[in-house]
Amino acid sequence: MTSEEIVKITSNHTYGTWRYQKGWKPLHIVDAEGCYFTDSSGKKYLDFSAQLMCVNIGHKNRAVIKSIADQAEKLCYIAPGYTTDVRAELSKLLLEVLPKGLEKFYFSTSGTEANEAAIKIARMYTGKYKIISRYNSYHGSTAASIAATGDPRRWFAEPTSKIDGVIFAPECNCYRCPLGHNYPACNIACADYIEHMIKNEGNVAAVMVEPVVGTNGVLVPAEEYLPKLRKICDDNNVLLIADEVMSGWGRTGKWFAVDNWDVKPDILTTAKGITSAYVPLGLTATTMKIADFFDDHFFAHGHTYEAHPLTLAPAIAAINEIKRMNLIERAVEMGEYLGKKLNELKEKHKSIGDVRGKGLFWAVEIVKDKTSKEPFNNKEEKVAGKPLTVNKVTAEMMNNGIYMQGWISHFVIAPPLIITKEEIDSAIKVFDEALKIADNELKN
Ligand SMILES: Cc1ncc(COP(=O)(O)O)c(C=O)c1O
Repeated sequence: MTSEEIVKITSNHTYGTWRYQKGWKPLHIVDAEGCYFTDSSGKKYLDFSAQLMCVNIGHKNRAVIKSIADQAEKLCYIAPGYTTDVRAELSKLLLEVLPKGLEKFYFSTSGTEANEAAIKIARMYTGKYKIISRYNSYHGSTAASIAATGDPRRWFAEPTSKIDGVIFAPECNCYRCPLGHNYPACNIACADYIEHMIKNEGNVAAVMVEPVVGTNGVLVPAEEYLPKLRKICDDNNVLLIADEVMSGWGRTGKWFAVDNWDVKPDILTTAKGITSAYVPLGLTATTMKIADFFDDHFFAHGHTYEAHPLTLAPAIAAINEIKRMNLIERAVEMGEYLGKKLNELKEKHKSIGDVRGKGLFWAVEIVKDKTSKEPFNNKEEKVAGKPLTVNKVTAEMMNNGIYMQGWISHFVIAPPLIITKEEIDSAIKVFDEALKIADNELKN
């Protein structure tokens, strides 16, 4: 088939995700290696967002590829009721790298499934049913995870395609405080608000947060926020679920984002970087206290592909590669460099309102006015399929060989953790030029 035929069949016969189907003409990708991927014309792109913030160790890592091939030769599939070498080996590794206290694991095949399991476990364990999530969040596309999603992707699932019982709290966003406060005078009122909700709602099983919010703006919480939220959950007998689907696996300069504040969640979910996205794997990790409950209570959950050997082997390899290449330390070092470069862009461009991040996880938010902080686009425009300024900027960057994610009125910059300073420099140069599109949309 020619590349043209491939694109035509794809757009006619397969769904493009989270979009109106009209006009979808996907780029045909034929190869990817290191921090780059290549289209069918031979043009190379620097991957400045690790695809969907997931290819943490970079593309075509030989050790991970070998682990998949070796496991395929050995044992492709066995029912989850059995055990395998890789199931035990991965569990041992997880005990080493996960926040202490998370010791029992449920393996699925995506982030949304990891969160479905977390919500179900929290409800079964506590006997309560309400879940507090936050407005600027994304937790996945299936019934429970989309119900817990604060961003407008949830709107399409209402009311029939989502579970009941999720209520929303304001997020911790010191650039745009949803409560109109200023840090630190606020005394972390956004956490107090959650305690107020817990006390007045009743029946709250868990609070579910992305410790560093991902797609919805790389919102790094104030220093006191997560420790305070941990205490509120403890004081009120509510579980804390940390969704580390995007923020885990070295992305923020620690194995997991919660490690930045030494906070131990009761349940941690993850996916994406656990295999660097080479194969689909989701993980729901719980404390032994929760696990013990199910010794004498039916664990009413399962998948045909739970603990699928072909998903576990590459996770072991990917985690070992993070260790071998010291990618956690590297994320800190390169993250500082990237942050400095992005802050230089902020000084230069009138359209940049905020630059924030941790490790190799950054957002650049564009605004029409630095004082009023009016965003270029809003949620309604996003769901209506209106042309967004961020998309014009990222399209221009693609023309110039740099792939970067844009979401409503900000960019998410999260390259593979193996990125070099030279690669950062080349991406920043293209970003700098493309930002003129946003600057030029401003009147003065
Ligand atoms: C924080 C977070 N949770 C959950 C998910 C859902 O993961 P998946 O797309 O693998 O279902 C995502 C996906 O982007 C995410 O960023």
